[in-house]
Amino acid sequence: MPIDIAVVPVAGHGTRLLPATKSQPKEMLPVGRKPVVQYIVDELSHSGVKRLLFITGPGKTSIENHFDLNPELIALLRETGKEEQLQELAFERQQMEYFYTRQRRQLGLGHAVLCAEPFVGSQPFVVALGDSILGVNTKSNVVERMVAEFERTNADVVIAFEEVPREEVVHYGIALPREPVGDIFELQDVIEKPSVAEAPSNLAVAARYVFSPSIFAALAKTEPGKGGEIQLTDAIRRVLREGGKGIGFKLSHEERRFDIGNFESYYQSFVEFALADPDYGPKLKQFVRGLLDNS
Ligand code: G1P
Repeated sequence: MPIDIAVVPVAGHGTRLLPATKSQPKEMLPVGRKPVVQYIVDELSHSGVKRLLFITGPGKTSIENHFDLNPELIALLRETGKEEQLQELAFERQQMEYFYTRQRRQLGLGHAVLCAEPFVGSQPFVVALGDSILGVNTKSNVVERMVAEFERTNADVVIAFEEVPREEVVHYGIALPREPVGDIFELQDVIEKPSVAEAPSNLAVAARYVFSPSIFAALAKTEPGKGGEIQLTDAIRRVLREGGKGIGFKLSHEERRFDIGNFESYYQSFVEFALADPDYGPKLKQFVRGLLDNS
């Protein structure tokens, strides 16, 4: 059976984006025209995902509202002849079933994924982190390619990686590849947020994973690690140590990751997406040029 389930953790508090995230989820912040999480759902739909489980937490109901049909809004737009705006709601009708469960205690990303076990059961599945967009205005199909490789190689874990500047390895899970690295490589180990000196490479886990259900058993045995949290990376490590097969996928430049977890990268993402807007981008470019010339 093809892999068609994705788990999207969106339970984090988004404290690095306060006060913007005090009463709205960071996953609902706009990047250009759309909220972050809509890019992720569009990407997953494009990659063949049909069932999507959000792992939510307190204050995240606007995500549920966003993916609901809104008949009153549709009727209003029809009555007032706003056909163009109606097009903007086409995503409501894409072929996707949504499910929601709450992570009742904030024990880390690994624990959030473990909350999906009763829903996923004993089948392989995708995990896509709810605060990371891949690519500007092009829907990445990396998940589809990762799923194909997962099936072809009978892997236990497939992870997307992105090269980051050496000093940034401290923010990510970092790969230890088995051999010199091509675009697809075998994974020997992965280490959560190592120091620059400890980091075995500059290949950072880039928010997309494909897992066999063996990850659940590993997560159940995983003790709190970095930051006192149950880390997904530590469970992956356990799967690899117990003989599981891990594959790494390097993202292409067009598919690079936009992290909406802190203001620096949020601002950069917003500006890049706004500049790429087909209607408003060219004028914005002139405006920004003017600002920079006068500064
Ligand atoms: C999480 C993962 C980390 C990964 C990162 C990618 O970290 O634990 O391995 O590289 O997401 O976005 P977080 O950003 O939640 O601290």
